[in-house]
Amino acid sequence: MRKRYLMGEILAIGILIAILFALPVAIVNYHVRNWNEHSSGRIVGIVARNDNIVDQPGLWMIQNGPLWNYRDKSLPNELEINHGEEITLMLTAADAVHEFSLDGYGLAETIYPGEVTARTFLADKLGEFKFECTSYCGVGHDRMVGKLIVVPKEKQTALAN
Ligand code: CUA
Repeated sequence: MRKRYLMGEILAIGILIAILFALPVAIVNYHVRNWNEHSSGRIVGIVARNDNIVDQPGLWMIQNGPLWNYRDKSLPNELEINHGEEITLMLTAADAVHEFSLDGYGLAETIYPGEVTARTFLADKLGEFKFECTSYCGVGHDRMVGKLIVVPKEKQTALAN
């Protein structure tokens, strides 16, 4: 009798743990557009914001790692990646609809508040590439310009994730 009771408890706890882990993953994945499940490279989160929460509206808040690890310390408007690396950008917007456009790699993505758009590409071209917002989004629109720097092998540092 007592043993049976214990088995039931273990099962209940097991189900609870499964739900607690699976649910956030399911929700997050559901909202990511164009997510490539087969990409194994580095994930870079980018939040477009053109609102009054930051001093200067019109920023691309960039961070190493996916968006759900988002920290306020993110670097604005500049992203350094390694040559030959596979990169997945996770793009989202804090406020309005923006358009992320990256020279050299032919990326042009419309990004929506509350939605994540993912794009995977191989960093096979060296140099500095301009990215900008190409859809008028308000007061800080002109400041939404940044650069992607693809560094050669000999200059690569271990980029913390
Ligand atoms: Cu963001 Cu224009």
